[in-house]
Amino acid sequence: MHILFVLAHPEPKSFNAALVQSGKRALESDGHTVEISDLYGEHFDPVEHPRHYADRADNDTFSALAEQRHAYKSGTLAPEITREIERLERADLVVFQFPIWWHSVPAMIKGWCDRVFVSGGLYTSRMRYGEGYFRGKRAMCSVTSGAPADTFVPGGRGGEISQILWSTHFSLHYMGFDVLPPHGSFGIQGHGYRYADDGEFRDGLESAKDRFAHRLLSLDEHAPLQFPSWEDWDDMGRPLNTKNKNAKEALC
Ligand SMILES: Cc1cc2nc3c(=O)[nH]c(=O)nc-3n(C[C@H](O)[C@H](O)[C@H](O)COP(=O)(O)O)c2cc1C
Repeated sequence: MHILFVLAHPEPKSFNAALVQSGKRALESDGHTVEISDLYGEHFDPVEHPRHYADRADNDTFSALAEQRHAYKSGTLAPEITREIERLERADLVVFQFPIWWHSVPAMIKGWCDRVFVSGGLYTSRMRYGEGYFRGKRAMCSVTSGAPADTFVPGGRGGEISQILWSTHFSLHYMGFDVLPPHGSFGIQGHGYRYADDGEFRDGLESAKDRFAHRLLSLDEHAPLQFPSWEDWDDMGRPLNTKNKNAKEALC
């Protein structure tokens, strides 16, 4: 396998960065090849903006969707977007590594999706979900948190992990990936890398790295998450099952 890590953390000495390095070592020693997209390290700009489009479809009004389509078709995408797409195309598995920030993904990950999943190139009205551009590839989120694992359950203080990651997972499904269940390294108390002198905490970090390496080497043990796709919707994208057939009427 060829694995791409997409790392979103501003500190090279962070636990997130250390997880990627230990995951890379484990995968390479198992015969795989690994590439890292270090978004902060490479100064990736996550803010979609007219400044990224040298050759505009419309100089008067900025439509991100129209400009993305035009840049893709005319070969004028920003170089960092072309680089990210090429990395994705090489990969069999994409692992997104990031801390949970404000019960969600860091803005860097959200903005990477906004810019890299190029409209009119990597998705169209039909080339989505089960027909998505990246079908046949797998993706997985690996998250760290300050709060402990037991709090990421329905009603828990951390918030339900499936809700925290839902929009990212659904976007990856939209792009055609098989989305693997997420991996969590929980209870990484804020400044993990500063705890190097605290023996007990350091041992906890080491075991979290071992768990991650083990997960990466046993991916086939986990079936991809199940999401609805074209066959589950009517022409308008409404769910076909009876339970939801009145959902439209229920909306105010
Ligand atoms: C802006 C910000 C928001 C955060 N929000 C959360 C949160 O919602 N839930 C949580 O458990 N931890 C939260 N944290 C803690 C981080 O998840 C934690 O510091 C990180 O996972 C530790 O890994 P690191 O040492 O690699 O940064 C937040 C941290 C920051 C900086």
